[in-house]
Amino acid sequence: MGTSIHWHGMHQRGTPYMDGVAAVTQCQLQPLGSQNFTFEAYPPGTHFWHGHFGMDIADGMAGPIIIHPKSPEPFEYDEDVVIFLQDFWLTTGEQQQVGLLSKPSLWVGEPQSILMGGKGLASKCYATSEETIGCIEGCGEDLFEQLMVVRVVKGKVYRLRFIQASSVEAYNIAVKSHNLTIVEVEGTNIIPVDCDSFNIGAGQRFSALLTADQEPGSYWLDASIAERDYPTLFGRVIIQYVEAEDEVPGALPLHPIWNATGGGYNSDEWIGAKTLDPSSYPEYSALTASQNEIKRYVLVTTQNHDADGGLVWGINNISFHFSSTEPLIGSAVRAAREAGWPTEIPNTIDIPPTPPNVWNYSETDQSYPALGSKGASIIPVNKGEVIEIILQNTYDLGNVSDIHQWHMHGHSFWVVGQGSGVWSEEDVSSYNLVNPLLRDTINQWPLGWSAIRLPMTNPGAWFFHCHIAPHLMTGMASVIVVQPDLIERNTENVQVCSGSDSMGYVELAETSGSARQSRLSMAVIYALVPSLLFVCM
Ligand code: C2O
Ligand code: CU
Repeated sequence: MGTSIHWHGMHQRGTPYMDGVAAVTQCQLQPLGSQNFTFEAYPPGTHFWHGHFGMDIADGMAGPIIIHPKSPEPFEYDEDVVIFLQDFWLTTGEQQQVGLLSKPSLWVGEPQSILMGGKGLASKCYATSEETIGCIEGCGEDLFEQLMVVRVVKGKVYRLRFIQASSVEAYNIAVKSHNLTIVEVEGTNIIPVDCDSFNIGAGQRFSALLTADQEPGSYWLDASIAERDYPTLFGRVIIQYVEAEDEVPGALPLHPIWNATGGGYNSDEWIGAKTLDPSSYPEYSALTASQNEIKRYVLVTTQNHDADGGLVWGINNISFHFSSTEPLIGSAVRAAREAGWPTEIPNTIDIPPTPPNVWNYSETDQSYPALGSKGASIIPVNKGEVIEIILQNTYDLGNVSDIHQWHMHGHSFWVVGQGSGVWSEEDVSSYNLVNPLLRDTINQWPLGWSAIRLPMTNPGAWFFHCHIAPHLMTGMASVIVVQPDLIERNTENVQVCSGSDSMGYVELAETSGSARQSRLSMAVIYALVPSLLFVCM
């Protein structure tokens, strides 16, 4: 089976072929294949890499990328600690994919554990023998072995870099008796915010400063599941002062209730994060652009049944689905070089800028539309254009509203507004155009809307999708195609993808040798995956 590696958070300025998305910017990497990636390490900050083919991420195929800035940062700390967050499944990504694409579709269920720093505990032991795969002898006995331990020295400041590489779950992070001061979100320095807890969804990153200013001892750093009611699932890290004896911490910190954001969330991403120095970022022009320079898209996201009874997600009634064996960037470059830009790209469908059906999105309404089509949907734009995207949430077919985390490849965007219920043009007057948060993965809260703005500066084919892997697998995606006539032609990437393996996105199988450059071998990649330790408690 194939794979590919994406560098989540890297803007790939001028290197759109290095984005590592199977079927969008390249063919999938074949078994034992290798590939050499070269790109600018930008922007500085807390990022990660992960598999971007099929359900790779559910198999734990991910690891951190930290880019240190050349100039000093506006905050100080003594030590840098990466806390890598994942959800752990006893089913493989491949098994999950088969279930999701079956008719009727089978949901992946709940994960068996949350991993922090690659380690976790099963929250329950199962009764029957087949179900005890995750348990080992003597589980729960030595938590200092079985969990990540951060050893701190009284008086020092620790930069905890939280990287959320889970496949499904969003977490609420809290620490006992200490404050967390958030200073960086996805490469953007923010006005420091103190909080007791914060939410972090799939694909998001936060740096929080923790000062070891309490009575020397041990304290829990805890992750609970946000936006789904799984009270027995948790992730834990021990904060252990070196001045005290190792001891299993006592009381747990408090989390908000799981559905605290139930009806949409009306504040800059929960904690009120604001960019510290907005004009220092190249995206700043989007905040000063006048209304008539801005191209607006209102994208309503829905869950639908497709024609053969599968469960899919759609954007303005189109569910994303590849129908070509050529990576989309290849088709786009060829079409635009032949006919100029904009032009029609074969095997793609343009997403309409406004929803084709309008109903009261925050009601479980009978006029809910059927799915319009399935296909490789795109949002074609010109280089330099400023776009605004409003992501409008709705009820799903089970009459609940889900959280989604939308990630844009190749760019960061300003979160100019968020609210509950249904977005309307009047909400524009309440946008924050002064110092909104600049990030690359945004929450679309249940029954809420989120508005983002950005200048499209980077020619390429950029995946824009929900980072919840099963949602992406079932169509919650589109590709923003930016001025492909300005992209260099690259024969490696415009070839037809080979392999009888049609996992993931490419449906047809056609064989042609897919020559790849070599260096980063898959053996190395798997060695980089944080070690998994899975025990019962
Ligand atoms: Cu981490 Cu396409 O995403
Ligand atoms: Cu989603």
